[in-house]
Amino acid sequence: MAPVLAVEHLTKTYPTLTALDDVSLTIEPGEIFALLGPNGAGKTTLIGAICGLVRKTSGRITLLGVDLDVDPITPRRDVGLVPQELNFDPFFAVRESLELQLGYFGRPPDPKRIDEVLEALALTSKAKMPTRTLSGGMKRRLLIAKALVHRPKLVFLDEPTAGVDVELRRDLWNYVRRLRTEGTTVVLTTHYLEEAEELADRVGIIDKGKLLLVEEKRALMKRLGERKLEVHFRDNVTTLPAGASTGVLSTDGRAFTFIERAGTPSCADVLGALYAAGLPVAEVSMAPSKLEDVLIRVLRGNGAAS
Ligand SMILES: Nc1ncnc2c1ncn2[C@@H]1O[C@H](COP(=O)(O)OP(=O)(O)OP(=O)(O)O)[C@@H](O)[C@H]1O
Ligand SMILES: [Mg+2]
Repeated sequence: MAPVLAVEHLTKTYPTLTALDDVSLTIEPGEIFALLGPNGAGKTTLIGAICGLVRKTSGRITLLGVDLDVDPITPRRDVGLVPQELNFDPFFAVRESLELQLGYFGRPPDPKRIDEVLEALALTSKAKMPTRTLSGGMKRRLLIAKALVHRPKLVFLDEPTAGVDVELRRDLWNYVRRLRTEGTTVVLTTHYLEEAEELADRVGIIDKGKLLLVEEKRALMKRLGERKLEVHFRDNVTTLPAGASTGVLSTDGRAFTFIERAGTPSCADVLGALYAAGLPVAEVSMAPSKLEDVLIRVLRGNGAAS
């Protein structure tokens, strides 16, 4: 299938700064792609260039098969954007702002669709309220409703859950997964790495305008992730069995730690070796590999302060 989005050699320079530096990326239909990177990395600029909010300096963007230099309008009608900044016309009611949004994207009125989106984002009871009276988290939900109401094929969620409470964040994750099963492609930026870990099929890491890496999330975690095994013993242990010799025994012989990386034995094998040797295991804990650690490792490799 043709990609939903193809970005080729995209560069954006401001007079004193290169915000995007020769970025090339393709997004496949139906995937959830997480774009990760520190503050100022260029995430919002990249989304802005695709959505028509930022003028690119050079490069090519092909959206839904159409080169945006040839037709900047038609393909963008099938795109939804949840912007990072909360910005609304404060005088419209929630429902009205969704009606306007449909019109803005050239769609006919569709009260049923509006009901559906209000319901999905737990805004039904606020439908008649002026948007300025919504709480911060509700405003964020309305932004998401606005980005989705016209059934876009591709949605950009630029930090969609900043300031959103835990329960709603979980609901939104489920909703994003549902969008994917309906065939919507999702590009997500977030500083909550747990969110990317939950949702993303593929991950891109950007820093100082350069796309450092694009990889399937599972493969990336396997390649660069680490898992830590900690074991406490009832009595002190003096020697480790061969299968656990790459772990570290504490000086008092009561604790053992092992870090699983690509190429090492697995935590399960090492633990198995401790049991098989009859060591007096009292307590076992295992910290799972985290995307956060992977991101930090990649950014350090790119010269970020440690
Ligand atoms: N209009 C502008 N003029 C000059 N520099 C700009 C302008 N807009 C953005 N920048 C700069 O471009 C760089 C990339 O900004 P961008 O908003 O894309 O970062 P980001 O990755 O979205 O960061 P965050 O995680 O903080 O949202 C930053 O250094 C920013 O200051
Ligand atoms: Mg941003």
